[in-house]
Amino acid sequence: DPDRPYTAAVITLSDRAFSGVYEDRSGPKAAEVLKAAGYEVVETILLPDDQSRLERELERLADQRQVSLVLTTGGTGFSERDCTPEATRAVADRDAPGIAEAIRVRSLAVTDHAMLSRGVSVIRKKTLIVNLPGSVKAVQESLGFILGALDHGLGILR
Ligand code: MTE
Repeated sequence: DPDRPYTAAVITLSDRAFSGVYEDRSGPKAAEVLKAAGYEVVETILLPDDQSRLERELERLADQRQVSLVLTTGGTGFSERDCTPEATRAVADRDAPGIAEAIRVRSLAVTDHAMLSRGVSVIRKKTLIVNLPGSVKAVQESLGFILGALDHGLGILR
């Protein structure tokens, strides 16, 4: 059925949110924006900045759960613990750099700090994985830049 909604999962990467220092607001924001755009959000997950744990979740969501889209938020910067792009690249079958490029280019019009996100976008099997920066503001802005085109790409992947 071409009209059935795309399935999506959201993973927040944050040592501090994971340990309860503060509440994760970025993952819920990503889920909220996805739902408003018509996606079925099947899982929202909170992880510490741990490369092998993220790789395992990405593999499970692509291979077993077979979601159309996985959004990660956080762990894309220059901190020593930031490992989201490395985990994402490690599980990739194919690179899909245009999405990460679009996020950075359009985000640079908002803030010079956009150049500090190392986020990547890749395909594993039939799942598109996109890294978003960690702040609520960055999640909102980035999704506004890419959601329009994702629909077409996910249709080709499915
Ligand atoms: N992109 C957008 N659109 N808006 C933002 O506010 N913040 C930047 C950048 N990308 C930002 C953004 C900042 S301050 C950093 S440090 C990097 O994303 C990496 O963020 P992360 O380490 O939380 O993933």
